This record gives sequence, C-alpha cells and structure tokens, in this order.
Amino acid sequence: MSNPSGLLIRQATIVLPDGEFLLGDVKVRGSQIVEVGAEVSFDPSDTDTLEINAEGLTLLPGVIDPQVHFREPGLEHKEDLFTASCACAKGGVTSFLEMPNTRPLTTNQATLDDKLQRASQKCLVNYGFFIGATGENVEDLLSVNPTPGIKIFMGSMKGALLVSQEDILEEIFARGDRLIAVHAEDQARINQRRQEFAGIHDPAIHSQIQDNQAALLATQLACKLSKKYQRRLHILHLSTGDEAEYLRQEKPAWITAEVTPQHLLLNTSAYETIGTKAQMNPPLRSPEDNKILWQALRDGVIDFIATDHAPHTLEEKAQEYPNSPSGMPGVETSLPLMLTQAEQGHCNIAQVVNWMSAAVAKHYKIPNKGAIAPGYDADLVLVDLNTYRPVLAEQLLSKCGWSPFEGWNLTGWPVMTVVGGQVVYDRGQLNTEVRGQALRFDAGN
Ligand code: DOR
Repeated sequence: MSNPSGLLIRQATIVLPDGEFLLGDVKVRGSQIVEVGAEVSFDPSDTDTLEINAEGLTLLPGVIDPQVHFREPGLEHKEDLFTASCACAKGGVTSFLEMPNTRPLTTNQATLDDKLQRASQKCLVNYGFFIGATGENVEDLLSVNPTPGIKIFMGSMKGALLVSQEDILEEIFARGDRLIAVHAEDQARINQRRQEFAGIHDPAIHSQIQDNQAALLATQLACKLSKKYQRRLHILHLSTGDEAEYLRQEKPAWITAEVTPQHLLLNTSAYETIGTKAQMNPPLRSPEDNKILWQALRDGVIDFIATDHAPHTLEEKAQEYPNSPSGMPGVETSLPLMLTQAEQGHCNIAQVVNWMSAAVAKHYKIPNKGAIAPGYDADLVLVDLNTYRPVLAEQLLSKCGWSPFEGWNLTGWPVMTVVGGQVVYDRGQLNTEVRGQALRFDAGN
C-alpha cells in the first residue's frame, strides 16, 4: 500500500458529531481531517491524495477501546503489542488504553516508559497505558505521565496489584485528582465464597463465587470514597443490574461507568456452550442483568463501552476450573457486535459511535478524537452494514486465535481502518508499516 499525504473518502454515509448522517466526502491532510461535506472539491492532478470510493459504506470515527490487556511485556505467549494492534486495526479500533497487569507490572515511570517505547516501535494504532496502584506507590501514581489514569484492582487479582483494604484505598483516593479506574469486586467476599464452593469444577460456579453482591459491595465502596474526596472515578466493566440500579440513584457527574459487549450479550448460559471460554472477571451474569445493563447504557447511567480484551491461549483456557484463567479477547469483534445490535433495533448507530468513540474521548479527555469534523485526527473506520459474515476463529489476528462469539453472524465489519491519516487496514490487508501515536490526556487525569 502506498503512503500518500492525503485521503479523499468519497460518498460515504458519514456519522456526524451530532449523530446525523451525511452522504458525502471527507478530506484528510497529513494526520488530520480538513473538510467534511456533501461534495468536497478535488484536483485530479493531485497524485499525493488517495481517492477512496466509499459508496454503500458507513464512515465512523475509529473506536477508542478504553480497557484492554495486551500482555507485553512478559506474557507475550498470549498476545503482544504488534499482534494486538493488528487485531485492533482489523476491528476498527484506532486507539486503546491498556492495563498494568503485565510483567513487570506498570507501576512507575520506568515501566510506563518501557511500554510507550515498545508501542512506538510495534503498535499499528494509538496507545495509552494505565498506571497500576500497589498500595505502596502513591507518589508514582501522582507523578507519572502520560497516563489516562490510575488502575485499582479492588479484587480478582493476585500479588502487588490487589488493593482491597479500605484504608489503603482511602489513601489513594485522598491524594491528587487524577482519574481512578476500578475493577470493582470485593476480595473478602470472593475469598469466603471460594472456600464455600471449593471442589466444584463446573465453570458456571465462577458466577456464583464472584457473585453480584461481590461486585456491588466494591462499587459502593469506590463510590463512597469518590464522593468523600470528590475524586474522579471510573467503574470498569460494570457487570450487574444491581450496580446499574445503584448508580442510577447515586452517580454524581464525576463518576463514569463502562460495560463490555460480553456483559451485554452473553450470560451464564454461555458456560454450557463454550465452557471456560466464558470465564472472565467480573463474571458473566443472568439474562435479567443483561437487560438492566442495556437499559442503563441507553439511559446514560453507563457512559461507554470497553472490551476488556484479555487473551489467554486455548491450552490455558482448556485447564479444568478453577485452574483456567479468566478473560476473553474482544477488539476484533466489538464494533460489528454493537453495530449488529443497532441493526437489530437494540440501539442506533449514533449511540454506538458515542459509546465506542466520542464519549470515551470526552471522559478520558483525549483531545481531537472521537468525531468526524475538521481539525480532528483522521482516525476512521469504514464499515459495511449491508452484509453479514460469521466470526471465524481462523480469521482472527489476536495471537490467542479464539473468540467467545465464534459462529455469530454479524454485520458492520470494518472494510477500511485509518489511523492518523494512514490506511492501516484495507479489505483484509494490513499495512504493518503504519505506527500509531501515544495518546495525550488533557489536564485533570
Ligand atoms: O477476566 C479478566 N481477565 N478480568 C480482568 O480484570 C483481568 C483479565 C486478565 O488480565 O486476564
């Protein structure tokens, strides 16, 4: 693929920032969108601009996935920043925020710099990295840059990243004003229920051990501390109707929440069909929880969508519960999954764009992203809403090579993905020369 300094995307159905659709053109110069209109003028002698016929296709701002686990450094047998970013490009994900549970853990400036350096060398899309709280690195949490925020595992974690004691949590909430993102599960309740249900190898028990109450208790504690210090809080992968109903009553403007496609679309019945592939933290819940989460998302109680892409090898997942690791991949399927939901009437395309791009940029204060408008970065995805294709394991680019959604027939698959004005994915072909940029986060994070 050539690398022109401009793009002219012609006759796409463009989703505009106000949610309206425009049948028209988008002109890109360098890394930025310069013009959006029904018909943008073009000089045919300009050989430096690549003209793209997008008739019949829909143009969206690229997806910003605000919670992924890409395993590098240290766990590259599951995934690495190159394979993960290839999967992103194919899935229409043009930026991601990655979690600190790598080896070494991302808990200080040196480990953050190492990730940024690796990403600059091998990442096809834009990247940002959370700093992990250990309970002993409060100074680092306040000083490192750039980062979207502090990640706290209140539960479901072993080792230094587990911060479950209220007094230590309070110390973190009390100091500074940077965004805190929590994995909200109550470790004491999980420990107790692990003992009660010990010896059961049916993976369905996972959802009972780490039950709705475990999630609700931790979410309530995080909200209590956030309100006490008026501290910017984000609740990662909200999984229960109980938490959604609690937030509906108790959510001040400085608290946000996200949900994953799997917590909207899968439930405990998945253990019967895909076994430990359905095992994740927080666990899948009941169909009633699916329903309440959907309503909370549509009502704005839940602000945006993340995949929690957490790949493990098939061999690792094949171990007997509870030795099987928790987590499932997601970046290649999230956009078509949600666009298929829109086509089926559960939401609309403008909402999907808001949840997967605009709202993420807004709440993480990522400048110039999440909209198709002049002056914004040219991070774009052209999708085909006219055809349906199944999720096939052999087509996946994530190193783990499987998906909990295999066989699901989806529409809205990306046809082309553009990162910073460069075509990184075009009808099945990746341009592995493209490199993303480190994301910036405006003051306050
Ligand atoms: O299921 C999960 N797996 N949830 C997490 O929060 C961590 C993740 C992982 O890193 O495997």
